[in-house]
Amino acid sequence: MNPLDPGERMTREELRDHQLRKLRDTLRHAYDNVELYRRKFDEAGVGPEDCRTLGDLARFPFTTKADLRDTYPFGMFAVPMERVRRLHASSGTTGKPIVVGYTEGDLAMWSDVMARSIRAAGGRPGHKIHVSYGYGLFTGGLGAHYGAERLGCTVIPASGGMTARQVQLIQDFKPEIIMVTPSYMLALIDEFERQGVDPATSSLKIGIFGAEPWTEEMRREIEERAGLHAVDIYGLSEVIGPGVAQECVETKDGLHIWEDHFYPEVVDPFTDETLADGDKGELVFTSLTKEALPIIRYRTRDLTRLLPGTARPGFRRMEKVTGRSDDMIILRGVNVFPSQIEEIVLRTPGVSPHFQLELARRGRMDHMVVRAEARPDSDPVQRSAAAASIAKEVKDGIGVSVEVTIVDVDTLERSVGKLRRVHDLRGQ
Ligand code: DLL
Repeated sequence: MNPLDPGERMTREELRDHQLRKLRDTLRHAYDNVELYRRKFDEAGVGPEDCRTLGDLARFPFTTKADLRDTYPFGMFAVPMERVRRLHASSGTTGKPIVVGYTEGDLAMWSDVMARSIRAAGGRPGHKIHVSYGYGLFTGGLGAHYGAERLGCTVIPASGGMTARQVQLIQDFKPEIIMVTPSYMLALIDEFERQGVDPATSSLKIGIFGAEPWTEEMRREIEERAGLHAVDIYGLSEVIGPGVAQECVETKDGLHIWEDHFYPEVVDPFTDETLADGDKGELVFTSLTKEALPIIRYRTRDLTRLLPGTARPGFRRMEKVTGRSDDMIILRGVNVFPSQIEEIVLRTPGVSPHFQLELARRGRMDHMVVRAEARPDSDPVQRSAAAASIAKEVKDGIGVSVEVTIVDVDTLERSVGKLRRVHDLRGQ
C-alpha cells in the first residue's frame, strides 16, 4: 500500500492543473464575497477572469496584516457566520489581534494537512503524541491535536506551562512524538536534567518543532541532548495555522510546502517583484481551497527561497526560515538577525542555548547586549573566554560590536511557547 495520500502522489503537471483550477475558484470566491478584495482588485484593474495561467497571479494585489487588522474582526470572512465553526486569533505585538475563521470544510482540510505533516515527520497511526503547543486562540495546540487524531495517533493535550508536570507525563505515558516550540523544548530538556533524568533516555523519538525561527545549530543541540529526530514545521494563522509546510524526517533538508492547498511565491521585499525559484526573498501565500477566509498573495514577512522537491517530488520545498523582515535589527547601520547570534552562541563552549538580546540607546548610539546563560558545569575562566569569543565572532562575522554578558545558570526567562528574544528598550 502506498502510504502517501492522493495529493502527495500528484505529478508536477497534475499539480499545476489543480492549482490553476483552484486558484481561479479562490479569486472568484474572494472577489464575490469580500468587499476588501473586490475594492483592491478593481483598483488594480484585474478580475478573477484575468487569471489564465499561474503566472497571472502576479497581477493581483498583495494582502497584508494591516488589511486583516483594518477589517477586524470578521470583515474578510467570505461565508456567512453560520458556516464558521471555529475562530482563532493571533495577538501580534501591537493593537488589535488578527482573527481567522474556519468552516467545517476548512477544519477537515487543516486536519488532513496536519496529518500529512506528522506522517512526513515520521509519525504513524498508533503513536502517542505529546502536544505542548499552547491550546486556545493560538493555532498551534488545536492544529496539532486534530492532525494527530486524523492520522490515528493518541494525543496527550498537554498545552504549554507546568514544565515539571510535563516531564512527569512524558515519563509516565511514554509518547514517541512531541510537538512544541524549539525554545520550550529546551526548557523541557533542562527540566529533565534538573530531575536527574537524562532526556536522551526518554521514549521520545521525534520532535516536530516550529512556530518560531530556529537554526541548524539548535537542531543539533536538541537532537544530541534529547536523543530524537528534530524536524521543522511551518505555518501561520492567516494561511491556516501549522501544517503549511513540513520537513521530511528522512531528508531534513527544508520544508515541503503542501502546494495543493497553499500556493507559494517569493517576492523582493523592496520592489515587490516576483522572484524566480532559488532566489531569496519574502514568502507570499495564496490559499487554494479555503472557504471562510480565502487569502490572496499574503505577505508573510518570512524570508526564504523555494527549492525543488526531494522526498515529495511533486511539491517544492522552502528553505528553513531563519528570520523575518521585521525582526531584523539595524544596529548602527548593520543588519543583524537574531538567528545569526543564535548560531554563534550555540557553537560557543561553556554557554547554554539560552540567550537574549537587549537593545538600548547610549548617547546617540544604539547598543546591543547579548546575554547568554552559562552551562552548569562552566567555571569563571570559561565564562569570560566565552564572552570574548562571542563578541569576536559577532564582530568578525556580522561586522558590529556588541557587549556580551554571561549570566548565571537559570537566570534568563524561559519560554513556555514562542520565545521573545529581543528586548528593545530604545523607545523607553
Ligand atoms: O505559529 C503556527 C504554528 C504553530 C506553526 C505551531 C508551527 C507550529 P502564528 O502565531 O500566526 O502561527 O505565527 C506565524 O510564526 O509567519 C513565522 O514568522 C513564524 N513561524 C512559524 N513556524 C515557523 C518555523 C503559528 N518553522 C509566524 N520557522 C510565521 C520559523 C516560523 N518561523
